[in-house]
Amino acid sequence: MALIRRARADDAAGIAQVHVASWRSTYPGMVPDAYLLGLSTDAYTERWRAILSDHGRIHASFVAVEPPYGVVGFASCGTQRTRIEGFGGEFYALYLYDYAQGRGIGRLLMASMAAELVNYGMNSAVVWVLHNNPSRWFYERLGGVRLAEKPVGFAGATLTEVAYGWRDLAPLARLSADPPVR
Ligand SMILES: CC(C)(COP(=O)(O)OP(=O)(O)OC[C@H]1O[C@@H](n2cnc3c(N)ncnc32)[C@H](O)[C@@H]1OP(=O)(O)O)[C@@H](O)C(=O)NCCC(=O)NCCS
Repeated sequence: MALIRRARADDAAGIAQVHVASWRSTYPGMVPDAYLLGLSTDAYTERWRAILSDHGRIHASFVAVEPPYGVVGFASCGTQRTRIEGFGGEFYALYLYDYAQGRGIGRLLMASMAAELVNYGMNSAVVWVLHNNPSRWFYERLGGVRLAEKPVGFAGATLTEVAYGWRDLAPLARLSADPPVR
C-alpha cells in the first residue's frame, strides 16, 4: 500500500526516476523520440532538488512511497501559470510508474494537491494535458471540466494541449481524508 506524503529535498532522485520513466512510457508517439531519449535522471534530480528547496513561491509537491520500491509516483501544484480566468490553482505534474497505475494512487495524489491548494486559499484549479494523452480521461473521471485547447511548440513539434478545470476543489480535497493521507 502506498503512503502519500509531502515531498522532501531528498526525494529529488526518486522523483526524477519516476519522471523520466513515466515520460518515456507515456509520451512515445506524442512527444518527439529524440526528446524522450535525451531525458536525464541526473538533470531532473538537480531540477527537482531546486524546486523542492525553493520556499519562495506557492507550490507543493507530494510523493507516493511504497516499500520496498521507494517513490513510485509524484505530483506538484501551485498558482495557475496560464491565464484562464476564475481559476487560482494549477496541477502542474502527476506521474506514476506503470506498475503503480490503476490502484487509486493518482486519485489520492490529486486529493492531496486539492487539499493543499484549498489550504493556500485557492478553491479552483486547472490542469493542462496533451490532447492525445489517454490520461485526460482520468481528469474527467475526477470531475475536471474541459475548458480550453491550445497549440504548444515542444521540442520542434507542435502539440495540442487541453485544459480541464475544477471550479470547486472541495469535493476532490475531501477524498484525501479517506483513506488517511500523510
Ligand atoms: C494519470 C495517472 C496519474 C492516473 O493515476 P492512477 O493511479 O493510474 O489512477 P487511479 O487508479 O487513481 O484512477 C482513478 C479513476 O480514474 C480512472 N482512470 C485512470 N486512468 C484512466 C484512463 N487513462 N482512462 C480512463 N479512466 C482512467 C480509473 O479507472 C479510476 O476510476 P474509478 O473511480 O471508476 O475506478 C496515471 O495513470 C499516470 O501516471 N499516467 C501516466 C502519466 C500521465 O499521463 N500523467 C498525466 C500528465 S498530464
